[in-house]
Amino acid sequence: QVETTLKGRKLMVTAGPTLEPIDPVRYISNHSSGKMGYAIAAELSRRGAEVVLVSGRTGLPVPQGVKRVDVLTAEEMYRAAVDTFAGCDGAVMCAAVADYTPAEVAVTKIKKEGAEWTLTLRQTHDIAAELGCVKGDRVLVGFALETDHERENAVKKLQKKHLDFIVLNSLAEAGAGFGVDTNRITIIDREGHAEEYGLKPKSDVARDIADKIEKYLDR
Ligand code: C5P
Repeated sequence: QVETTLKGRKLMVTAGPTLEPIDPVRYISNHSSGKMGYAIAAELSRRGAEVVLVSGRTGLPVPQGVKRVDVLTAEEMYRAAVDTFAGCDGAVMCAAVADYTPAEVAVTKIKKEGAEWTLTLRQTHDIAAELGCVKGDRVLVGFALETDHERENAVKKLQKKHLDFIVLNSLAEAGAGFGVDTNRITIIDREGHAEEYGLKPKSDVARDIADKIEKYLDR
C-alpha cells in the first residue's frame, strides 16, 4: 500500500559495491549485496518520495517507482551521486564504496611473473564526506559496518562526514550485514543519542530508517 508521508520529497540512495578495474579482466570489489540500500529505496518510494538509486553492480531488480542510475566504479558513483544530490532533499549513503582504486588500469591483461606482485592503489573520493560539506540543511544518512570499537568508530564517521545520523551494523552479529536478508542496527544521531533495534528483515529495518528520515525532514 502506497503512503504519501514523503510526497514532494526527492531522495537519493547509494547502494551496492563498487568495482575497481585492475586490467581488462580483473577487479577489486567487496561483499556488499545492495539489499539494504534497495530496501530503503523501495520504502522511501512507497511513502511517496521521488527516489533515485545510484547503484553499483548487484543483480537486484529495480524497486517499483524508483529511478536507478547504474555505476561500476567509485569514480562513477561519485560523479552520479554529486549530480543527483544537487536536486535532492537528502540522501542515504548505503553503498560500500572502495576506499582505494588501482592507480593505473593496465590496458592489457597483466601476466604472471615472479612470486610476488605489488599493486599501487590511490584513495577514492569519500562520497558521503564530500556531500556532507555541501549538504546545508538537507538530511544525510550514512552507514557504518565495523568489526571493532563499533560505536566509537561510528561516532567518528558521523562527525567527520557531517552526517545527521549514522546506521551502525555489526559484522560480528549472525544474521546482520552482508548478503543476508536480516539486519540488526543502532542509529546514532549528532546529539550522541543511540537507539538500538532488534534483528529483523531488511524491509523492516528500512522502515525504521525511513521513520527517522521523515522525522528529520519534518523538524
Ligand atoms: O568510512 P566508511 O567507508 O566506513 O564510511 C561508511 C559510510 O560512508 C557509508 O555511508 C558509505 O556509503 C560512505 N562512503 C562513501 N564514499 C566512500 C566511502 C564511504 O560514500 N568512498
